[in-house]
Amino acid sequence: MIKEGIFVNPLFFASPSSADLRLESRIGKVFMVKRRFLGVGLLVGLALSACTSGQVTAQTKRLFSEPYTGNPIIFESPGRDQRLQIERVMDELAIGPGKVVADIGAGGGWFAVRAAKRVQPTGQVYAVEISQNFINAINERAKREGLSNIRTVRGTAADPKLPDKSVDAVLILKAYHEIADPVSVLRKTRQAMKSGALLGIIDKNGRGDDHGLNREVVIKEANQAGFKLVKSFDFVKPDDEDYFLVFSPTL
Ligand SMILES: C[S@@+](CC[C@H](N)C(=O)[O-])C[C@H]1O[C@@H](n2cnc3c(N)ncnc32)[C@H](O)[C@@H]1O
Repeated sequence: MIKEGIFVNPLFFASPSSADLRLESRIGKVFMVKRRFLGVGLLVGLALSACTSGQVTAQTKRLFSEPYTGNPIIFESPGRDQRLQIERVMDELAIGPGKVVADIGAGGGWFAVRAAKRVQPTGQVYAVEISQNFINAINERAKREGLSNIRTVRGTAADPKLPDKSVDAVLILKAYHEIADPVSVLRKTRQAMKSGALLGIIDKNGRGDDHGLNREVVIKEANQAGFKLVKSFDFVKPDDEDYFLVFSPTL
């Protein structure tokens, strides 16, 4: 779970007492050793602080959510296609036969299999995941469902590891708020996009550490990474919380 608490090292506020000062004047060397311990204590405290409040992105210094590691069955709920209007989402991203699509943060492959059917055997889907368990699950699923046009890619928190100028459309579905280094991931994604390619981000408003991220933050980070917003929708769940943003690379 997200740990927002900041560890405050009590030694940080410790100042030498008058007794310490008297002691220092008498046995200055001993006091210097004591101060050195305080310094070490402070450093240890700061290191612990960095570990326990580590859910802040490297580049943007904002909160993000712990990547989901549970059972991907939760992404398979009946009616999800209709609720998200996933066919309309694919229309907006101009996903059709022969196209190359990237599903970044693919989870159990819910979108990857739908995109793979839409692009048909002449097209290709890159299912990008940081979790090896999910990569394995997607590989097994693609085999089971006879979809030979899904290729899994093990990305990192900062790089989806997609080939340069290879994709026509990208979807980041309910995963953006989990990306630890979002501007880096978007920059690398941009390099992987062919001319005229589109990037879709579906998420919901939130602080970052609550499984959502405000759309203004997503737009700002996408701009930083070299994208411009071309369309903004709320049909994926008309609740003013969920959004579907479409970006294209700037020149
Ligand atoms: C909430 S799940 C959504 C799964 C899927 N998109 C869906 O909606 O069915 C988010 C997924 O993003 C993955 N993830 C988080 N950070 C990632 C990154 N930097 N690159 C690729 N995948 C990432 C997590 O491992 C997790 O499986």
